[in-house]
Amino acid sequence: MSGPAVPPPAPLSGDAVAATVDALRQHLGATAPEIAVLLGTGWGPLAARLQGAQTVAYADLPAFPRLAVGGHAGTLSVGHLATAGGAPGPRVAVLAGRKHAYETGQPDGMKGVIQSLAAWGVKALVQTNAAGSLEATMPPGALMLIDDHINLVQASPLVGLKGDDRFVDMSAAYCPALRTQTLALAAQAGATLHRGVYAWVLGPQFETPAEIRMLKVLGANAVGMSTVPETILARHAGLRVLALSMMTNMAAGLSDETLSHAHTMHTAQGAADRAVDLLCGVLAGLKI
Ligand code: HPA
Repeated sequence: MSGPAVPPPAPLSGDAVAATVDALRQHLGATAPEIAVLLGTGWGPLAARLQGAQTVAYADLPAFPRLAVGGHAGTLSVGHLATAGGAPGPRVAVLAGRKHAYETGQPDGMKGVIQSLAAWGVKALVQTNAAGSLEATMPPGALMLIDDHINLVQASPLVGLKGDDRFVDMSAAYCPALRTQTLALAAQAGATLHRGVYAWVLGPQFETPAEIRMLKVLGANAVGMSTVPETILARHAGLRVLALSMMTNMAAGLSDETLSHAHTMHTAQGAADRAVDLLCGVLAGLKI
């Protein structure tokens, strides 16, 4: 019996990446910032903390995806983070807009983005997302540093690539040194930052309570529909990865709430300012 017909991943030509790097140099500067931040649900207000930002639309970058969700076109901005003292903070790239695997069934929607950032000279990818909590100690609004992940979907954005470097070591996928620094910076700021394991599910439907009980047995602390493919791509491209999750709900069966996208967005909006404060403090202090 043959399995379900899965179309092969879309080929991404080296030409598209090279043309994208040219466009990034032209629009945003010859020198890439060290850090690129990929904004997930709830983390959007970070973009407003950039000073002197220059922005380019994904649509003008050949290797970047065309986004459909909610009419959000996708933008890449580069600027200096505002600091409390007024002095310009570090120069960072901020990516607003992600292609999710649940949109196409393919996990490689962000391949061109990650490869282009690495080719431009970015050194670290800081990912943010919204997630469901499996822990009573992490209520909606809580923030979690991702220590490790479970690729429950067992799909890879590297399928179809050639070369020995596709066999990527994932034993320290989330950079231990960056995690240590982040925990220290959060503590200095007096912010509570939990830590745990993020399980990637395909979605777009939320999980069943039985699936959440299974995830708990497997060792997950939070569950979400993003991040893992980009972490794999980033490690393949030689980028260091740091990732933060914002809990927007207790996972299915762990509370009486009905799960919905609107509910996720509502909680995310309420928690965004505190989350972005923490993220700014971390970005200002990280030594890459
Ligand atoms: N499950 C999966 N993804 C999510 C959730 C959830 O409960 N909340 C936010 N993203």
